[in-house]
Amino acid sequence: MSELSQNNEVKKEKKKISLSFIQPSGSITLGNYLGALTNWVTIQNSGDFNCLYAMADLHALTVRHEPADLRKQIYQGLATLLACGIDPEKSIVFLQSHVHQHAELGWILDCYTMFGELSRMTQFKDKSAKNADNINAGLFTYPALMAADILLYQTDFVPVGQDQKQHVEIARDIANRFNGIYGKTFNLPEPYITKSGARIMSLADPTKKMSKSDSNVNAIITVTDTDNEIIKKFKRAVTDSGSEVRMGEGKDGVNNLINIYSAVTGKSTEEVEREFEGKGYGDFKLACGEVVADRIRPIREKINDYMNNRDYLDQISAVGAERASIFAQRTLDKVYKKVGLVVKKHN
Ligand code: TRP
Repeated sequence: MSELSQNNEVKKEKKKISLSFIQPSGSITLGNYLGALTNWVTIQNSGDFNCLYAMADLHALTVRHEPADLRKQIYQGLATLLACGIDPEKSIVFLQSHVHQHAELGWILDCYTMFGELSRMTQFKDKSAKNADNINAGLFTYPALMAADILLYQTDFVPVGQDQKQHVEIARDIANRFNGIYGKTFNLPEPYITKSGARIMSLADPTKKMSKSDSNVNAIITVTDTDNEIIKKFKRAVTDSGSEVRMGEGKDGVNNLINIYSAVTGKSTEEVEREFEGKGYGDFKLACGEVVADRIRPIREKINDYMNNRDYLDQISAVGAERASIFAQRTLDKVYKKVGLVVKKHN
């Protein structure tokens, strides 16, 4: 074997591991799609990583929900991953709750995570302010379960939005602490924050991020919106009293629309400005609605197909869970051994 092909062999073995989970809470928005999902698909299709993608359904239990709604959202999340291009032949796709090692390592990591560091988590502070009547222990220890999600697979990269960076950092701190006590057990993960220029903002209040938990349906575009809904929402999008389609300070609404149009068409923002020179906001909003509707349509149709075929979704997630569980158990056995538990004999 030549040196080069030997190197390639080594490289193949050492493919980096990329892992990301998404919470099953409401339809994925255009912001999630352009900011996160398209990226996940790129990472998957690059062939440079072994990828794991899952629905964080256990994390969803930290806030109150209707059981039937949650179940539907789990299926819908899975359907959305597939519809957006996550390919179960290329990536391991599963439900967190189907791989029991997550809850098990989560408990162990609870015992290596400090009250003080959990108290400092921004998301915990935000969520407990919003759910003052349900500040449960799960909400508090959420980051330790997320650390388990990541560390079980000896993950190298965690592609997440800025809001989850702190959680990846605490996972790294927990791993470091554990490794410090017991010797190298976990790989240290790194957050992989996408530099995507397009931060998609609310259509109703363009100073706020487009968020799937927004109660104003006109503020957000979701991957399950119909063509008509999309066009209507863009027509109603908040702009300013000006009329030129140009980026500028104090023009948050127009800036957001230009960013969206640019992200969807792949044109630079300057090209977009040139394309709409001499045209007003009305024309531009309609054009935005149309390009977004064209992009969402095939995704929505695929989601609907998958939702009408839950047996298929069950099958995909069962295969994914089985594959994930093999890797997860390896790490869990290692952890059992290190902390002094008895490793169960596997037949
Ligand atoms: N906390 C993440 C979110 O709300 C979801 C999540 C759970 C996650 N486990 C993870 C993300 C592991 C990345 C890796 O978006």
